[in-house]
Amino acid sequence: MKLLAILAFAYATYAFPAASRSKLTETLNERRTLNDLRIRQSDSDPVAVVDGLTQIPDDDHPFMAPGPTDQRGPCPGLNALANHGYLPRNGIVTQADIVSGTAAGFNMGGDLSEFLALIGIAYDGDLITEKFSIGGPDSRTSLLGSLQNILGVEGGLDHHGPFEADASATRDDAFFGDDHTMQPNLYAQMKSIAAQYGGLYNLDAMKDLQLLRYQQSIEMNPTFYFMPVSGPLIVGAKAFISEFFSNGTYGAGGVPNEASISAFFGAELLPNGSFTAVPERFPDNWYRRGTPFGLVEAIGQILDFISSKNLAFGANAGAVNSFVPLDLAAATNVNGLACIIRDAIQGNIPSSVEQPIDLVEQAISSLVGLVDPLFDDFGCPAFNASETQAYNAINQINSGNS
Ligand code: HEM
Repeated sequence: MKLLAILAFAYATYAFPAASRSKLTETLNERRTLNDLRIRQSDSDPVAVVDGLTQIPDDDHPFMAPGPTDQRGPCPGLNALANHGYLPRNGIVTQADIVSGTAAGFNMGGDLSEFLALIGIAYDGDLITEKFSIGGPDSRTSLLGSLQNILGVEGGLDHHGPFEADASATRDDAFFGDDHTMQPNLYAQMKSIAAQYGGLYNLDAMKDLQLLRYQQSIEMNPTFYFMPVSGPLIVGAKAFISEFFSNGTYGAGGVPNEASISAFFGAELLPNGSFTAVPERFPDNWYRRGTPFGLVEAIGQILDFISSKNLAFGANAGAVNSFVPLDLAAATNVNGLACIIRDAIQGNIPSSVEQPIDLVEQAISSLVGLVDPLFDDFGCPAFNASETQAYNAINQINSGNS
């Protein structure tokens, strides 16, 4: 009863005007891109050949497979950047590395990369050095080196929790063990959905994939968890596949085909028709998108995905097919969804970092101070503590403590 009251309150608290900014930005971007692109495609090999776009990688960034002490993890985009030296090849990164590397390799907007890097630092890295590992835990992220465990675990992006999420495209849910390695069977599943769209990993295909992975997690993972912050981000990652991995600008002739996508996922086709995992790389003859894709665009896509497929936030209550939804009215428009994400960060950071709060209190509040301005344009009201209570209630149900 108490939970229902909290959920009802959280539901009623949010209602913001719809933002038209995303659509406008999209339209302007597409128009600008079309103006400076010339695209030729042959029927037999649909590779975008473009003028006015930057070919990646350049000569200074050759592919090199990671060495035994280099960190690689659940994000194919970051793994590919590190394998080409757009990020430090050891996989230990700062926010500055992420912002410059993702802009150079993929034309990711600075607000989006700043935001993702801050989440990486807060949840999976070191609040003092502001470094995180793009793979597993690593003493190189910490000021204290190998003594870091005295201060708690810095799990790297592999760490399942507020960032690494369930219902990934090609990674298993953490419940099944390895949450960060590309699983050939899941890659093949994604490919079979793309096949229904002429072999294109376009947004429609990725929406179908998101729905399927969501349903599979509900049906197979008793601990399935799909809540802000990680829930919307794992949805956004599906949009990244079309928006960033396409050869050329998606929606302006860019091609999200097998040749492009498989290289980024490190999915190598074997003679018997199955796939094996190899290090991620930029494909040959590949062109970066021509316009930045930033926070507004990402949240717009996430909203489109969750509304078109009716994906409710919520969690399984410790058994398969026991999904408890948390409906948030604000999740129906861009501003509302943005504010939910911001609130979840504000509500979560102090309770979920695995380092003693007293030692890092200062660092945490300065981090929240950095996240907040990124959300200025969304007109969010003051931080809403009751929504955090609703999250806590769902969290308790999910962990069997209700
Ligand atoms: C800017 C810093 C970034 C950070 C901190 C980051 C972090 C992550 C994390 C933690 C995941 C794991 C989600 C999960 O499986 O639970 C992930 C997945 C993913 N990321 Fe990134 N990412 C970043 C940038 C990028 C970029 C630039 C791209 C594309 C160019 C990208 C594409 C993806 C994709 C496609 C997945 C989904 C993989 C799958 O589900 O199989 N990310 N990222």
